[in-house]
Amino acid sequence: MVRKFIKKTTAVLLCAAVAAGLMGCGSVTSGKRIIRVSHAQSETHPEHIGLLAFKEYVEERLGDRYEVQIFPNEILGSAQKAIELTQTGAIDFVVAGTANLETFAGVYEIFSMPYLFDSEDVYKSVMQDTDYMEQVYESTDEAGFRVVTWYNAGTRNFYAKTPIRTPEDLKGKKIRVQQSPASVAMVNAFGAAAAPMGFGEVYTAIQQGVIDGAENNELALTNNKHGEVAKYYAYNKHQMVPDMLVANLKFLQGLDPEEYQVFKDAALLSTQVEMEEWDKSIEAAKQIASEDMGVEFIDVDVDAFKQKVLPLHEKMLKENPKIADLYLYIQEVNEKAKGGQ
Ligand code: GCU
Repeated sequence: MVRKFIKKTTAVLLCAAVAAGLMGCGSVTSGKRIIRVSHAQSETHPEHIGLLAFKEYVEERLGDRYEVQIFPNEILGSAQKAIELTQTGAIDFVVAGTANLETFAGVYEIFSMPYLFDSEDVYKSVMQDTDYMEQVYESTDEAGFRVVTWYNAGTRNFYAKTPIRTPEDLKGKKIRVQQSPASVAMVNAFGAAAAPMGFGEVYTAIQQGVIDGAENNELALTNNKHGEVAKYYAYNKHQMVPDMLVANLKFLQGLDPEEYQVFKDAALLSTQVEMEEWDKSIEAAKQIASEDMGVEFIDVDVDAFKQKVLPLHEKMLKENPKIADLYLYIQEVNEKAKGGQ
């Protein structure tokens, strides 16, 4: 309770400070332009560690002009709020899952499509194809922001207060999803009842029985402590949804070419660091969740889950032509990977 109050109060004060100091155009302290970066994770999360590398890289090269400040734990607001702040330029960067970008650019809906990538390798090779992804990244220009790089957010699986061993176990369960229509459709297609809400509300919602469970990567169990309230985690592997480092477009466009390159290189470096940290953290999270929190990890028949929702591919393609190109491209990479095996 007290912690929540402090967090809320800090958020309000910080937002007021950000708003007052910036008026939507960036702040300058002791001659340096302050760059504000917001994200939803804790300070031990791979994304925070990646962002520290971003900060160091920028400040080593442009430290006389820029200071990078990182705000973790949704201190500046949930992803949706922080995106709005990035749109207006009140902050400069935010890390947000693609689900939060769907309403700005329809192409991002594709990542909500279940069983889109055949493997983690396919997922990573598509996301690391910077030439291809650049056109996707530019798709939010009209909204005033642009993605500069991606972060691995692992594979999403269902977890709940009671075991999920077959798709039937999802029937009637109230499962939290991210606030995007495509994620709602995805969870409903599994036969569960989707409950969209912000990430920060999930712990209490499970604890109080407002929902039965959620779906996320393993770090949600430990970094966000969901393993304290949901003890069954099923490896049904329905999605690989990346997080994106999003920048205010005017800020990017206001940089001179040399500065722009430094920020771009810093972003790429942050992805490398984040990806390395990711693999280590997942191993550690599984151990902590099972040994210290008593979470049971359940291996399920993935194909049984997959069959349930595959018709969504056709439906989503029909309803949203903006995902067609990327879908075809991903299928090509899926096929190539099969051929290579
Ligand atoms: C993951 C992801 C976040 C996302 C969260 C969620 O933690 O990294 O970007 O917000 O899931 O489910 O809301």
